[in-house]
Amino acid sequence: MDLVISSTNHIPDHENLIFIANSLDDIVSYSFSKEELNYLKKCLNKEAKSMTINRYDHFIFVQFIDSNLEASRQSAKTLHPKLCHEHIEKVTIVDSSKRVDIIMAFAEGLALSNYQFLKYFSDKKRHSLNSIQLHSSASKEDITALQAVIQGTYIAKDLVNEPFSYLTAPQYSKDIEKYGQDVGFKVEVLNKKKIESLKMGGLLAVNKGSIDPPTFNILEWKGRNAKNTKPIVLVGKGIVYDTGGLSLKPTPHSMDMMKCDMGGSAAVVGTLYAIAKAQLPLHVIGLVPATDNRPSGNAYAPGDVIKMHDGSTVEVLNTDAEGRLILADALSFAKQYQPELVIDLATLTGAAARAIGKQGIVAMGNDQKTMSLLKESGQKVHERIAEFPFWDEYKDDLKSTIADLKNLGGAEAGAITAGKFLEHFTDYPYTHLDIAGPAFMTSPFSYHGTGATGVGVRLLFDFLKTKSQ
Ligand code: BES
Ligand code: ZN
Ligand code: ZN
Repeated sequence: MDLVISSTNHIPDHENLIFIANSLDDIVSYSFSKEELNYLKKCLNKEAKSMTINRYDHFIFVQFIDSNLEASRQSAKTLHPKLCHEHIEKVTIVDSSKRVDIIMAFAEGLALSNYQFLKYFSDKKRHSLNSIQLHSSASKEDITALQAVIQGTYIAKDLVNEPFSYLTAPQYSKDIEKYGQDVGFKVEVLNKKKIESLKMGGLLAVNKGSIDPPTFNILEWKGRNAKNTKPIVLVGKGIVYDTGGLSLKPTPHSMDMMKCDMGGSAAVVGTLYAIAKAQLPLHVIGLVPATDNRPSGNAYAPGDVIKMHDGSTVEVLNTDAEGRLILADALSFAKQYQPELVIDLATLTGAAARAIGKQGIVAMGNDQKTMSLLKESGQKVHERIAEFPFWDEYKDDLKSTIADLKNLGGAEAGAITAGKFLEHFTDYPYTHLDIAGPAFMTSPFSYHGTGATGVGVRLLFDFLKTKSQ
């Protein structure tokens, strides 16, 4: 990452400053000239929230923000283009209002706004900003955690933005291994032979049409003095490209963004990276089944009956409902850890995206404690959670006439029947997060920009940080 976040205990002279204030009273003690103060007052009277003072060899930006974390991130997002326009490389954010969470959110919004994916441009026009200093009461741990979660989010965004032409399942595993080495989480990659011996029939069926072998990736972070005795397991959908398979995606352009179908697993990788970087005292395992889903002479077909890792049989009625097949094997594999809880993340259904759009995550599960902690974290980091019902009656839609269950529900409640399918393969406290709506943007959206958002990393990191305290 090209952006460094650090702290300082003095306000530097002749350098670019951003004052975060609640009211003018917060900043009058700084050495503003009379003219500058008059200018700030005049702007405030016009209800401006953002002011710029040009001191020729540096700028002072004053941002008025109420006590709302998301407003603070948005304020940073609005300021970011001005910083770029002035080719500013380094800024010091001054917490004039003594609200450390507000200033952290501002730094977060600025850092997220600064993300770029330039790998495939010949002319890499980088944003100028490369250093954010905080003058605040934020502790060293706060700054480390912020840097870690930003890096984790950047990694998730990079992985999702990578096209399938680069990120095949085997390449994905190599990238995960590299990130593990960077920050010290363990990575074990199971190859096709091993996957066959484990009888992961869901992952193998989806992979049948591919020219690349599948991989199953086991990530593990065991921090010193881990608070939990039973591990927390995170499972992520790792479909590196989803064509729908033989049930080829019918809607024009619906395939254009399907490199994002490993977004759930990218959030798992980014989260493992962030918690290892921040050295959280927790034991966390990440499971990532990975393959692409495409048609070929050997592809799995509607009507097939497959046998899953747990021994259940599944009638495949739509090869585009592939995410639940690879996740089911991973969820069944997770049982051996006797986990405290399991959370999966997946770009699982168009139904979830249609229901609530890009604004939030559709969640369901049988673990009310985790659900309420996730909701709290979601509000804090603005990766908000909408809980859907998870009533057992929805299971009726998955009854098959030839196998234990089918991979396709009825015409209604598609996000929930997908969740119910997954639940069949669990025997522990379980939460399912469908991120099909917020994972990928086809036009600029907030401080996420266009393309991958890295959704899930900030949510899980905050959730895990809470669990580690
Ligand atoms: N990867 C898609 C879901 C998706 C849709 C993700 C839009 C991101 C944006 C998933 O594999 C899929 O195709 N789901 C089908 C399921 C259906 C066949 C039961 C869907 O939602 O249409
Ligand atoms: Zn699909
Ligand atoms: Zn998919």
